[in-house]
Amino acid sequence: MARYFGYKRPKDTKKALKAIFHYLGFHKWMLALVILLIVISTGANITGTYLLKPIINRYIIPGDAKGLLKALILMGIMYGCGVAATYGYTQLMVHTSQKVIREIRRDLFRHMQKLPVSYFDTHTHGELMSRFTNDVDTVQEALNNSFSLMIQSFLMLTGTITMLLVLSVRLSVVVFLFLALMIAFIRYNSRRSKAYFNRQQECLGDINGFVEEMVAGQKVEKVFNHEAADFEIFCRKNEELRRASTKALTYASMTIPTVVSLSYINYAASACIGGLFAISGIVDLGTLASYLVYVRQSAMPFNQFTQQVNFLLAALSGAERIFEMMDEPMEVDEGTIKLTNVHISEDDRMAPCEDYTGDFAWTCPDGRLIPLKGDVRFDHVTFGYTPKKTILKDISLYAKPGQKIAFVGSTGAGKTTIIQLINRFYDVTDGRITYDGLDVRDIKKDDLRRSLSMVIQDTHLFSGTIADNIRYGRLDATDEDVEAAAKVANADSFIRRLPDGYQTVLHSDGGNLSQGQRQLLSIARAAISRPPVLILDEATSSIDTRTERLIEKGMDALMNNRTVFVIAHRLSTVRNSKAILVLEQGEIIERGSHDELVGAKGRYYKLYTGQFELE
Ligand SMILES: Nc1ncnc2c1ncn2[C@@H]1O[C@H](COP(=O)(O)OP(=O)(O)OP(=O)(O)O)[C@@H](O)[C@H]1O
Ligand SMILES: [Mg+2]
Repeated sequence: MARYFGYKRPKDTKKALKAIFHYLGFHKWMLALVILLIVISTGANITGTYLLKPIINRYIIPGDAKGLLKALILMGIMYGCGVAATYGYTQLMVHTSQKVIREIRRDLFRHMQKLPVSYFDTHTHGELMSRFTNDVDTVQEALNNSFSLMIQSFLMLTGTITMLLVLSVRLSVVVFLFLALMIAFIRYNSRRSKAYFNRQQECLGDINGFVEEMVAGQKVEKVFNHEAADFEIFCRKNEELRRASTKALTYASMTIPTVVSLSYINYAASACIGGLFAISGIVDLGTLASYLVYVRQSAMPFNQFTQQVNFLLAALSGAERIFEMMDEPMEVDEGTIKLTNVHISEDDRMAPCEDYTGDFAWTCPDGRLIPLKGDVRFDHVTFGYTPKKTILKDISLYAKPGQKIAFVGSTGAGKTTIIQLINRFYDVTDGRITYDGLDVRDIKKDDLRRSLSMVIQDTHLFSGTIADNIRYGRLDATDEDVEAAAKVANADSFIRRLPDGYQTVLHSDGGNLSQGQRQLLSIARAAISRPPVLILDEATSSIDTRTERLIEKGMDALMNNRTVFVIAHRLSTVRNSKAILVLEQGEIIERGSHDELVGAKGRYYKLYTGQFELE
């Protein structure tokens, strides 16, 4: 069955075409060859049919067997060339279109990687995924088939019509009459089915979205015993889809049989009238024979052409959605300061070097080297995810190299937001953040992020082995480094107990591990990357207190002379911090050491003693 794409049209056909041609342009010689082969194949087909006329008139009627044989061989060669050309262009087109699709997919992926974090806040995963699946698929389908089929059927149609006119203008009137009837029918029918196709697409999107949600939330579904209710909703959606599809396909499936019947009637009428013309000597027998073959041929390319135009338009609207995403502004990076490895000589002079020395420096465009220390300061920082709502209000703080700074505060206070400004997931609205005295906006983003290692609040593990996941923090880490990092994170003992140890393969976000084990792995991943600043966002929230103490010890050794920012709900974690900042509704309301804050008997004291919740 043909694929029905519905009748979604691109918003700006010209722009979508231009973008597609940009990609096709990389293979223009291939495509020129494809078009040449299509011309040869269609030409061979059309002339092959025309040869019937001289064959009948010159050889069959006069009874010239030798001549007939020669002419038939010529005809065979002709059709043979046609077949070879058809084979050639379909193969070439498959190769070329797959290359084009690979390039589109590659650019789409590359672009997606460079989109700012805020883009992902406002687009669902399903929406992004469908660019890579549905949309790329429709474009692929169109490039594979529709592109060449459309050219081929267009050439076939114009060639056939021309030959009909060349053979007999008067007889062609009948054919044109039927072609007009076919056009009228196809237009009428597609207009009637259009609404149903749109409805079918809507229902399909709806049911797919529902299934996606149910798969993701199947545990919650089971917990709340929601199966029966959800099944009922599914059945209702399924029934709606059935109804819409049946209606849409009822009309669509009428097109081909009707066009075919019309073409048969056309053929019969042409044969009758042609026969009468032949009897009365208006046309000769050879002309009639080849004329009738053209009549038979005329319906097919006609039907194909209209169908391919629809497919192509659907593909263009898919392409439009792909290119829309590629047009989304990338994360801006106006930073010029880079991070370089340096070698520090005995007299404290720094020299850039290639190898890992453990010492780094910021290289300014003017060649100045500033040692990387991990001194982070917030200077009257104000920030909101959207202009309408300010989340952080006038935040000022500093963390000197080697200090451990903790943020505490109730849910939604803005702790995660603060640390996402340090690594520039988002940029400050007002004020500035400096890193070793440099505005973070002047540092190249990649280099800035390389200098920080972060355990983010929603841990994510990739498909692959445990070792791969830890090595994600530093790709050139050796197996020994991986194990050392796992030991720091106190993950080594549980990893060793797994049947395949470090080679245990993790599936879909580490589904085969406990929540706490996942957190240990993300700590190990951060530990392996050896940067001077470590940021832990609720990294130990699912880990038991004993393990947490062990991690802390390991961290202390690792974090010698490094700056650490910790966010934790569990106040025991933050006790030994140099400074604790208490955040409430985007403002720092208290700061000081644990003892100072407890002594002050303010919000921290209440949080610490549990009185806060009881108020
Ligand atoms: N991507 C976002 N877009 C818009 N608003 C956001 C976004 N992320 C967080 N917010 C809002 O910013 C505020 C602070 O959120 P944040 O994640 O910083 O809180 P938090 O202190 O880390 O809380 P928790 O302890 O629950 O992790 C919240 O009110 C939240 O609704
Ligand atoms: Mg948070």
